[in-house]
Amino acid sequence: MRLLVCGGAGFIGSNFVRTRLAGSDDSVVVLDKLTYAGRRENLADLEDDRRFSFLHGAIEDPAAVAAAVEGVDAVVNFAAETHVDRSIIEPDAFVRTHALGTFVLLEAARERELRFLQVSTDEVYGSIEHGSFTESSPLDPSSPYSATKAGADLLVSSYRHTFGTETLICRGSNNYGPYQYPEKLIPLMVLNALAGDRLPVYGDGLNVRNWLFVEDFAGAIAHVLQHGTPGETYNVGGPDECPNIEVVRRILELCGRDESLIEYVPDRPGHDRRYSLGSEKVTALGWSAATRFDAGLERTVSWYRDNAWWWEPIRSGAYRDYYERQYGRSLEAPPS
Ligand code: NAD
Ligand code: TYD
Repeated sequence: MRLLVCGGAGFIGSNFVRTRLAGSDDSVVVLDKLTYAGRRENLADLEDDRRFSFLHGAIEDPAAVAAAVEGVDAVVNFAAETHVDRSIIEPDAFVRTHALGTFVLLEAARERELRFLQVSTDEVYGSIEHGSFTESSPLDPSSPYSATKAGADLLVSSYRHTFGTETLICRGSNNYGPYQYPEKLIPLMVLNALAGDRLPVYGDGLNVRNWLFVEDFAGAIAHVLQHGTPGETYNVGGPDECPNIEVVRRILELCGRDESLIEYVPDRPGHDRRYSLGSEKVTALGWSAATRFDAGLERTVSWYRDNAWWWEPIRSGAYRDYYERQYGRSLEAPPS
């Protein structure tokens, strides 16, 4: 099988491409715009594989998409803007990529009768105090990120309903693991803890996320692509939930730091309290998560500790500027 993987230079996409090339005879072409989060470094170990190729381009560009779908059997779409905080400050790119980009890809899939898997998120359901969302829960997104992802999901479903396109949707919970850009909670806290910088916890730190190791999500997407029923949506939740402050404490412990680095900062506007997914449908299809949170977090901290080549250019450049612009202060802890 030849797969087009859109957004394959990002965190989950690059992990998916890596596991796919290792575990099958498939060939993979990646189409990626290389935004700040998309990096060729994420695919560096795959560049010499003859089954791998890379195209630099945007999913909202019909010419780039037409070139990329040449000869492929299926499309997996990871391409997205993914940081909720950025969607609050600058929602434009979220609308362009999720609405227009998904539309251009769907048109290409429809014309060529390709199977199309949309990678989506638990955030489209909004926040839930108790219990878990199922695939038939109503969509109730609360940020420009989740609202535009929900819009893309609805567009995908409409192509199944109207044109008979073989669409699938996978809604994952919060992922963590190697190659995640250090604007998201876990890699940011790990790198800050390793450096002895402050760890900014939003609000009271009691927001709860359902943590899914990235290799497990990559495996679920491959499984649904092969075994899923066209037109269906599959929730893919992690095996463990954890409040943010507990995540931060475990990271400090793994990094050998004490809790004096924790700094409570003003809450994110519209901050969702808790995400939780019921994954019975994908479990019935034959998939289950292999990595519990404790083990996955330990592997993640080790990876960041051992791969400074990957994160040093980010920490010293764009992210630092972004952080200072957003919070009006620098990343380093003040001298004690
Ligand atoms: P990421 O930000 O690390 O990577 C996104 C990738 O998409 C980057 O390589 C970027 O360059 C590329 N991209 C962005 N806009 C593009 C465009 N217009 N055209 C082509 N490429 C473009 O994101 P991620 O965390 O790997 O998330 C991948 C997908 O998984 C997203 O659709 C996201 O909504 C979904 N998801 C993420 C999580 C999570 O916890 N990170 C959880 C569930 C679902
Ligand atoms: P994030 O990784 O941005 O994922 P999402 O908001 O999409 O779930 O954030 C995870 C949780 O961590 C969320 O409740 C917000 C919180 N958070 C902090 O407390 N401090 C931070 O610096 C960041 C980035 C997130």
